[in-house]
Order: sequence, then C-alpha cells, then structure tokens
Amino acid sequence: MFRSVSFGIDAWVDCEVIGAFEGREISAAEDNAVQEAARRPEFKAKVGQVVEAFPEGSPRVLIVGLGDREKVTFATLRKSFAAAVRRLSATKVSSVNVRFDSLQDAVMSGRIFGEVAGTLGWNAGFLKTTPTEFADLKLSSTDEAFAKGLKYGISMADATNFARDLANTPPNFATPLWMAEQAQKMAEATGLSCRIIKGDELEKEHLTGLINVGKASINPPCLIRLEYRPEGSDAKPVVFVGKTITYDTGGLSIKGKTSMPGMKGDKAGGCAVLGAMKAIATLVKPDVPVVAILVAAENSISSNAYRPDDVITYRNGKTVEITNTDAEGRLVLADGLIWAAELENPACIIDMATLTGGVVTALGDEFAGYFSTDALLAGDLEEAAKISGDRIWRLPLDEAYKDMMKSPVADLQNSNLGGKAHPVQGAVFLWAFVPEGLPWAHIDIAGVSNTSKDSGPLNPGQTGFGVRLLCDLVRSGVSVS
Ligand code: BES
Ligand code: MN
Ligand code: ZN
Repeated sequence: MFRSVSFGIDAWVDCEVIGAFEGREISAAEDNAVQEAARRPEFKAKVGQVVEAFPEGSPRVLIVGLGDREKVTFATLRKSFAAAVRRLSATKVSSVNVRFDSLQDAVMSGRIFGEVAGTLGWNAGFLKTTPTEFADLKLSSTDEAFAKGLKYGISMADATNFARDLANTPPNFATPLWMAEQAQKMAEATGLSCRIIKGDELEKEHLTGLINVGKASINPPCLIRLEYRPEGSDAKPVVFVGKTITYDTGGLSIKGKTSMPGMKGDKAGGCAVLGAMKAIATLVKPDVPVVAILVAAENSISSNAYRPDDVITYRNGKTVEITNTDAEGRLVLADGLIWAAELENPACIIDMATLTGGVVTALGDEFAGYFSTDALLAGDLEEAAKISGDRIWRLPLDEAYKDMMKSPVADLQNSNLGGKAHPVQGAVFLWAFVPEGLPWAHIDIAGVSNTSKDSGPLNPGQTGFGVRLLCDLVRSGVSVS
C-alpha cells in the first residue's frame, strides 16, 4: 500500500482513473485502447472490478467498475474505489489523475476516493525495524468539485489514521499521561484549548471512577479536556466523551489469556474522539462548539487494586457497588458524563467506548451498537453514519432494563453477574449519570474498532471507527429535541 497520500497536480501523471457503469458504457471521447479494455469479457463493470488500458504515448488508464448506474451509493463507491486504490498500489504508480465525470455528487465522490486511498495506506507495523517499503501516492483531479472532495477526503483519512496510530500504540508506550501528551501536542498544532486533570486534582474534582480504576497501575489516570469554539460563539457545545483505557487486564476480575491480548485497543473510543477533534479544528470547522472529554486510566492489578465488593461514591453523590472490576469502562465514563453535564452546559453528549464483548457477539465488526435518549439526535447520528460509512445500529434503552443494575448495598452495581444483555447493561448504567431531558447517545464500538479484514476499504488492525461519524455529525449542526 501507500506510505503517504497527498493532493497535488503534477505536470505529468502515471495513470488516469476513470469509471464505467454496468453495460460497460464509457465516454466516446476515450482512446480506442480504453474502449477495447472496457469491452474485455472478464470486465463487466461490476463493483470491485478493475481493468487497465495502455493507450499509445499516454499514461495508463485504470477503468473502475461502478456497478449498476441506478444503484450507486456511497457504500458501493467505497468498494469500487477501494478496488481501484488496491490496483494502483499493486502497479506502483505515483501520480494519478482521477476523473469520474458521470458521478452524481462529485464532491462526496472525491471525498470517498481520498478517504479510501488515505486509510488503505495505513498499516499497523510502525515498530518493525524494517518496515515494508511503500510508495507515495499523489492524487489530483481535473474535475474541480471532485478535486475539492479529494483534498477533504485525504485530510479525513489523516485524522482517521492519527486515531488508528494512537489506538495501535502498545500499552508500554501509551499510558494515560502519554495520551495526554499526544492530545496536548495535537491541540497546540491545531489551536484547540487543552486541559489535563491528574494527581491531586483528580481527588479535588472527585473523579472517583478514574481514581479507582486507575489506582492499581504505576501509570496514573487523568482526564483530558479539549475545546473547539468558533469565534464569537457562546452556543452550548456538543460534548464527546471517550473511553480511554490504555490497557484492560480486567483488574482483579482478571481476563483469560485469550481475551486479554488486543486490550491495548480499549482506548479506541478516546482515540476516535481525538482524531475527530483534529479534523474538526483543521478541516470541518463546524459552527457549533465542541468539547472532548477523554477519561484515561489503565485497568491493572496490584495489592492496591479496587476490588469486587468495594462501594465507590461519585462526585454527584451516587454510590456504586463494584461486582466486576472488568466492567471498568462505564466507571470512568460516569466521571466523564457527570463532568460534562455539570460543567460544560452541553447541548448534547455522545460517548464512544469499546464497552462490551456482548456487542461484538451481537453485531460483529459491521455495525457499532448505539443507544440514545433523543429521537432527533438518533436521527442525526444515523444520517452521519450513512455519509461517513461508520455504520451504527440502535439497541434498546428501556426502563425495563434498569432493575438489572440495582444493588442491595448501593444505588447501582457496575455489572449484573447474571450475564444477560451486556451491551444494554452498560448503556443503562451510564444512563443513570445523564440528567433527565439531556440528549445523550452511547456508541459501543468494541466490535468495529478493529478488524482482521483485508478487503474493500478495510485493512487489518485499528479502524479509527468514529472519527468520520463524529465529524459528519457536527458538520451540519446537531438537532436535539
Ligand atoms: N474492554 C472490554 C470490552 C471489550 C471486549 C472490548 C472485547 C473489545 C473487545 C470491557 O471493559 C469489558 O471487559 N467488558 C466486559 C464486561 C463484563 C465483565 C460485565 C465484557 O463485555 O465481557
Ligand atoms: Mn473490562
Ligand atoms: Zn475495557
């Protein structure tokens, strides 16, 4: 794949990329060699098919199948363009002009092409001593609207890859304070304001979840706050809260030897929020203010660990009986939700978390599970999911489930050992920390935050799921009831 993907117009190009719909119709203006290639029997212009032509004296032409003209969607374009980018990478071209003159939404099409090219360029092996050799790819388009989209898409991919790099960083490097440093650096570079709450200040602010979940680790916990505010705006912010568990051993309720590996990815929610903030500050620049709260801790084991049977008291007075130290995400998110509701005057809150194995069982790596208290916010999220390709499926947030989280000794228990409906348990627990009437959504990304797939627009490792979803949510403003 490609090491870096950039936008730029070169005096010469290696390759031209064009599209063909089923029926293999391409523009009559194309060269004969191109017409012939498009008519080859193995090429039916189906989504995912590509064929190359070599016109005399001009750059090679890659023809990309776009499928049935009537059935083109953002999703089919993602697949078509992924096949194109994969072939471009195999042919080792370096400067490419992309021209899809017959696509309906040129800006969005360009954006998808840029995103797919940029995200397929990422790989998980940055710590290999001899990284695989990759070429650089420069993309341009003679179509102005498509070019605009390309530029945007390449930047979206950069922000997504930033989130993937963070989530992919091993836990011996990526501690909670390391995450804070990365957030600070990004904020400095992009003009966001950034505040870190750690040490004594955590105690002063009564951030009970972070203190308890983080106390067994030599790497202390922290809360990271970032703010984007458009000039002159005093509107209520949209608040993102991200689960940032830099490693999840399960704590004293320890995980098994097969379920612990991969838990460096338990910070993916926070990383997606950071990636989104980077794009929001530099590219999306929405009219609405956005605040990000990352709750960062390492769930480790020592004689100082929090235990099953402990009861902890939150800043808002709520008490929680710990029944399972492996249900730690909701404990730190509760701090984030209380903070957001009390101190940020939020228009709405959206939390993003690798919260439960249950959502992996239920939805696999195709859809994130989400819950919402607000119909309009849910609608906006669904719309953003369609545009961004980060797909979400709504799960029930219903009063009837609340009993599951009752404790005989405290207001709540953090896990019901009966083991039913884990994703809902997590959501219902968090719901208890959201004030009545405040629009809120919880997105459980445990299944979609990483993948083993190497097909279409996905390649293996962390996916950066959520970066584009959150950006598209705030891009056109968020409506709440
Ligand atoms: N970080 C895990 C959830 C997870 C599982 C993320 C698999 C990615 C892949 C979370 O903290 C956890 O341990 N959840 C438990 C909750 C249970 C103990 C109540 C789970 O789902 O098994
Ligand atoms: Mn856990
Ligand atoms: Zn976890």
